[in-house]
Amino acid sequence: MPPRVRPSTPDDLPQLGRMGAQLMRLHHALDPARFMAPPADVEAGYASWLGAEAKKPKALVLVAQAEDGAVVGYAYGRLEGRDWNALRDPCGMLYDVWVDEPHRRSGAGQALCEAVKAAFRERGAPRVILMSAAANAPAQRLFARLGWRPSMVEMTCELAAE
Ligand SMILES: CC(C)(COP(=O)(O)OP(=O)(O)OC[C@H]1O[C@@H](n2cnc3c(N)ncnc32)[C@H](O)[C@@H]1OP(=O)(O)O)[C@@H](O)C(=O)NCCC(=O)NCCS
Repeated sequence: MPPRVRPSTPDDLPQLGRMGAQLMRLHHALDPARFMAPPADVEAGYASWLGAEAKKPKALVLVAQAEDGAVVGYAYGRLEGRDWNALRDPCGMLYDVWVDEPHRRSGAGQALCEAVKAAFRERGAPRVILMSAAANAPAQRLFARLGWRPSMVEMTCELAAE
């Protein structure tokens, strides 16, 4: 059975900090020049950020809870307004999704993404947009399976290498 998805509570903050830090480390490892290096206190910083975001009506912080009560994943997103730089009308942005490794491939990622879609739909968003590291093929397979389509390609040029 996939873990249960529920809104986060302040008690979840240490787990959210732990998982957010891992998400940041994963991205830095995928492309160290493009994705910033996690600072020493990244767990505390991430916990503090998500705790503050969770209090905002436009934000969404959900956790996946296993049968034994352990928090094993999370998703974070926020309703964003029209953005002229991105040529993007108001939408839900999905910023983070994480599932702890031992709990992967059992539907937790899908359950979190479906819950994000449902919550944003309920709040009137016409679509949910996310960005995924180019090298993160597993995540892109999950998103494609759940209805996301490629809509933007980010490219990075290292000036020091020229
Ligand atoms: C991406 C991630 C959230 C998926 O979580 P998950 O709980 O394993 O996902 P699910 O079990 O719901 O998988 C649903 C489907 O997604 C696809 N998928 C997920 N992980 C995959 C993988 N490693 N390889 C290929 N397909 C994968 C499959 O189609 C899968 O269905 P299946 O298991 O029936 O084949 C998880 O691997 C993760 O936390 N990765 C690290 C963080 C990350 O990359 N986050 C996304 C940042 S953009």
